[in-house]
Amino acid sequence: MLYIGIDLGTSAVKLLLMDEAGAIKNIVSREYPIEFPHPGWSQQAPADWWRETKAGIRELLAGFDASQVAGIGAGGQMHGLVVLDSGDRVIRPAILWNDGRTQKQVEYLNNTVGKQTLSACTGNIAFAGFTAPKLLWMRENEPENFARIAKIMLPKDYINYMLTGVFCTDVSDASGMLLFDVANKCWSEKMLSICGVRRGQLAEIYESAAPVGTVKPDVAAELGLPAGVTVCAGAGDNAAAAVGCGVVGPGGCNISLGTSGTVFITSDRFGVDRANALHSFAHADGGWHLMGCILSAASCNKWWMEDILKTEDFAAEQASIPKDRLGRNRVYYLPYLMGERSPHNDPSARSAFVGMTMDTTRDELTQAVLEGVAFAIRDCVEVARAQGVRVDESRICGGGAKSPLWREIFADVLNIPLTLPETEQGPGYGGAMLAAVACGRYESVVACAKALFRAKSVTAPDAEAAARYEARYQTWHKLYPALRALEPEMEAET
Ligand code: XUL
Repeated sequence: MLYIGIDLGTSAVKLLLMDEAGAIKNIVSREYPIEFPHPGWSQQAPADWWRETKAGIRELLAGFDASQVAGIGAGGQMHGLVVLDSGDRVIRPAILWNDGRTQKQVEYLNNTVGKQTLSACTGNIAFAGFTAPKLLWMRENEPENFARIAKIMLPKDYINYMLTGVFCTDVSDASGMLLFDVANKCWSEKMLSICGVRRGQLAEIYESAAPVGTVKPDVAAELGLPAGVTVCAGAGDNAAAAVGCGVVGPGGCNISLGTSGTVFITSDRFGVDRANALHSFAHADGGWHLMGCILSAASCNKWWMEDILKTEDFAAEQASIPKDRLGRNRVYYLPYLMGERSPHNDPSARSAFVGMTMDTTRDELTQAVLEGVAFAIRDCVEVARAQGVRVDESRICGGGAKSPLWREIFADVLNIPLTLPETEQGPGYGGAMLAAVACGRYESVVACAKALFRAKSVTAPDAEAAARYEARYQTWHKLYPALRALEPEMEAET
């Protein structure tokens, strides 16, 4: 039997075909555009996701025996607001996880409704990228669109809906809506009423590996799939990535370096950090996790390489940075190209290079970008550590994890060993694993992950570089508060 894993990302949909033994038989990636209609806003057309997913599945299966496909599972970019009217027409472009337009609504939720109420109802406070503030934004700014909403969906739920006709979501992705009572895994009536949402506008909730339906006959015919292919509820991309990296059961940690950067810490109990600085969400394995999310991770490097240095050869740029330079760079970089989520919750935060002199080199700036992202993830890890959560080692995945230099920098900055899985396709692989569980190939997500995870390499921290980075992190950590004071002035000027 074969299983298809879909990673519905921000820059592309990545699809993979996995066999029963967990071997990846094929991988396909198809890009789609992202719109930034205002600084800090970000939107995408769900029709683009669906078109490229369909084309991707056809491409993925070319040359393979499609009649062997038994299941499909998706991991998708989280928090995005997809709204459909009563005729199942998409009402407006999806507002994405890294969109910062909801500052006013976040303030209302956190300060007027109050963080305590939000945390009691959902286990979380409001962040600009979450779904509930986007609904409030729509109600205020697009009342006609808001009045037409019949269905509220998350990105991968839209793909599942198009595949099966079943309106569903899963516990891990629902957790990021701020409408979901994470501890009790049900919709929060109080949050629904605060946001002016009716229960009928929201999907049925499933555990991530639950089968929700089968591919509709007309879609199966179009995609060359056999009749009766099972589709599982799937997961938010971070939960799916954790599954794909074998980070299931309590006490595990996964770092994902995609467009966003996340640190994902698993637990068998629901728990909230004192300041709600980390997200407290359900995991795709039936348990829970704490998560810190930085909005720009590999995207900082992509921006620096492609938009500024005008090169696509990332490895060549990094090759001229010798190992003995690690922890010795004089330039600092703040990675807040889209504002920042964890731990600052500040859509107005901006990126900066600090500390340049006349002899600063291109290599030092490249290195500073890689280091700044690692420091920002360290900020999230420190919040967890301050709560007594131990982070002594981690897995690492995502496009950014392919760089040996960046893995080295991360291991030194966090001062922990990092294990790279055989595939860096975390969410897609996790999606295929969830599908295999939904089809009954494995009895649980934990059993599947334990059976299929394979490590490729471990990057251990270098004690001397780690000590140098410790000192640099302490200085870097003071830069954001210093610059934050200038945000209102800088904003007024634009
Ligand atoms: C997590 C988050 C991002 C997106 C990226 O809270 O917003 O990691 O899921 O796709």
